[in-house]
Amino acid sequence: MDAAEMKKIVAEKAVDTFVKDGMNVGLGTGSTAYFAIKRIGQLVADGFDLTCVATSVQSENLARESGIKVVDLDEVDKLDVTIDGADEVDPKMQLVKGLGGALLREKIVAAATVREVIIVDESKLVERLGTKAPLPVEVLRFGHEHTRYALERQGCTPELRMKDGSPFVTDGGNYIYDCRFPEGIANPFFLESRIDVIPGVVENGLFLNTAFDVLVSRQDGTVSRMSGEQV
Ligand code: 5RP
Repeated sequence: MDAAEMKKIVAEKAVDTFVKDGMNVGLGTGSTAYFAIKRIGQLVADGFDLTCVATSVQSENLARESGIKVVDLDEVDKLDVTIDGADEVDPKMQLVKGLGGALLREKIVAAATVREVIIVDESKLVERLGTKAPLPVEVLRFGHEHTRYALERQGCTPELRMKDGSPFVTDGGNYIYDCRFPEGIANPFFLESRIDVIPGVVENGLFLNTAFDVLVSRQDGTVSRMSGEQV
């Protein structure tokens, strides 16, 4: 099974398991969430009445093209379920997100969600966060070099994310530093508390105690839930 097939089966399994007619649904961002949005579009075409909130301009455009009704987050009081990808998942279902650049809206949407369902293929599983992926940190453009020094003091090497020769700019108009930790992240909760007090930091890519469940697809075509529930 190739990487795209693994993303598709886990995304479709998550939608078919968690999305029910009449729900408010959060739409994730990235190449795995792409397949979930396409599947949600099929449900809408089949007559489901869903109200959706997107975590990025990219996902909003895809959703509208797929015939999905998209509203602002403030138009709903809560989301019943959000289906989103992740860059790393540890055995306690703690996550690193944001390589797709949408971590700020993803975290706001997750906070408004009853069931945050994460969809990954097995390549995203790690014993310790920060060992495969860098930790993305979204920062204000103003004084961002100073913010970088403060991030560096947390024991990482922060690299300004670039796109087409210029700094990558998020949907919120900010920059991202991808922070590499040589030994991975020993204590994600402590690190988050240190990063969040740095002036200039808008949001970090640690999603701690956020996942209601994580669905994982494997090379052999199976999908399992980290909560231990049946799929
Ligand atoms: C975007 C994200 C994505 O969910 C994450 O990067 C995973 O993306 P993909 O499914 O393409 O690997 O956090 O900000």
